[in-house]
Amino acid sequence: MKIHKLLLGVTALFGLMAGQAMAETVKIGVVLPYSGGAAQFGEQIDRGMNLFISQNKDAFGGNEIELIKRDSKRPGGDIAKNAVQELITREKVNLLTGFVFSPNAMASAPLATQGKVPMVIMNAGTAWIPSLSPYIARVSFTMWHAGYPMGEYAHNKLGCKTAAIGFTDYPPGKDSRNAFTTGFEKAGGKVLEAIPMGGPREVPDFTPFFQRVKNAKPDCFYIFVPAGNHSVAVVKTYASLGMGDDGIKLIGPGDITQDTKLQDMPKEAEGMITVHHYSADYDTPRNKAFVKAWKDAYGADTTPDFMGVAGYDGMAAIAHAITAQSGKVTAEGTMKALSGWTYDSPRGKIMIDPETRDIIHDSNVHKVVSKDGRMMIEVIDTIPQVKDPCKANKIGKCK
Ligand code: PHB
Repeated sequence: MKIHKLLLGVTALFGLMAGQAMAETVKIGVVLPYSGGAAQFGEQIDRGMNLFISQNKDAFGGNEIELIKRDSKRPGGDIAKNAVQELITREKVNLLTGFVFSPNAMASAPLATQGKVPMVIMNAGTAWIPSLSPYIARVSFTMWHAGYPMGEYAHNKLGCKTAAIGFTDYPPGKDSRNAFTTGFEKAGGKVLEAIPMGGPREVPDFTPFFQRVKNAKPDCFYIFVPAGNHSVAVVKTYASLGMGDDGIKLIGPGDITQDTKLQDMPKEAEGMITVHHYSADYDTPRNKAFVKAWKDAYGADTTPDFMGVAGYDGMAAIAHAITAQSGKVTAEGTMKALSGWTYDSPRGKIMIDPETRDIIHDSNVHKVVSKDGRMMIEVIDTIPQVKDPCKANKIGKCK
């Protein structure tokens, strides 16, 4: 068990000398996968959090923060829930953060409510998670931020009249399927079939699922998998079955074109269209500075991705909440400070929607292109400041 203590003591000392209130110590429980196949996600988010802290030592109002990290290991919910229980009852944390996998956030939500400990979610994307506890706010995304506009775009701009869907069979996969189906059918498209393709823990052999889709000959094939090694296997299977030659367009949320995985993909990735809110290739001064700082800190061959930026933005949100309360952090005070918080993120302008406690950000249409021998993301369209479409349209469990 790792305990990382970050002392912002110098600032605190100056505060005291200036006659200000004494610095408080704020304990933050961080629940992330630090081992197994998903450890790459934990590392991304950790790096994002640490980069924010190292660049913004003054952002915590002179208070001390203690990060108490726990390994959620798997997506199943149980390990994360036990960790959260221990963080609340024994460590008496003021805040919880992290949460890559939706089932881990869902299993932990009742504990946040009972213990009155705010949770700042840095990834888990199933749309209705914040309705499980009044103490949840999310800085990452919902599956609808990408899936719903991707459905509209596939029909209206890519000319797809029919689509097949493949999804990892757990809550965010089903949510992403619903998001795409809603957007696509509302625009006039027809979903031919939606295929569950195994769970999030192991990368399955995608071949039988993709063969079914090849036979059905849809115009578009929309896929959600939980990023990482799953996404590389998706593109490799699409390539090996020659589905591009059949005229089937591979599309999805940006999870399937994650920055950290693009260079591992075959050339058939070129031309893929995804919708997402972040790529390291965004050509803005704010993002360029962020990517440079990331490479300076972690190595020229590393790159942030949507999880890294969520760790960074999440720590910015936490810093804001701590400072707004002068370090005396309460659950109500934290939720009030997070509500309506805005930030100039490397992804662009973001805000925590006071109505839903979910993020509002731009959803961008990404095209994979090959330039100077590397695969990269080009932004070809932007849907500005998207409020989670599931809650905005009161669909299903978002009612
Ligand atoms: C989730 O479990 O909510 C999840 C995991 C990985 C992703 C997206 C969503 O890329």
